[in-house]
Amino acid sequence: AYVIAQPCVDIMDKACIDECPVDCIYEGPRKLYIQPDECVDCGACEPVCPVESIFFEDDVPDKWSDYRKVDTEVFAGLGQLGGASAVGPLAADHPLVSAQAAQAA
Ligand code: F3S
Ligand code: F3S
Repeated sequence: AYVIAQPCVDIMDKACIDECPVDCIYEGPRKLYIQPDECVDCGACEPVCPVESIFFEDDVPDKWSDYRKVDTEVFAGLGQLGGASAVGPLAADHPLVSAQAAQAA
């Protein structure tokens, strides 16, 4: 699956949402998250992020290696939700995101 790495934190441009054909990009308080079991690996979201935060999971740069599992882990216990637009924002961020210092564009 594709994942959203550290640059999205607090920036949350959301251009990616409009590109996803399966509506699997969910909003958290400080970052967006791709549901790995709903993502169809089309790659459409990756080039539109203005801060280059989206990567195929195996291609996340080493400096953000902690983020390879963040999207998967935030959906543990939530499972497949069937589409972000219907579900609305997630209640909480992954702990790694919550622990990040605030960042601005
Ligand atoms: Fe975040 Fe980039 Fe999407 S900043 S919300 S991953 S367009
Ligand atoms: Fe969606 Fe395709 Fe990205 S399924 S999350 S636009 S890789």
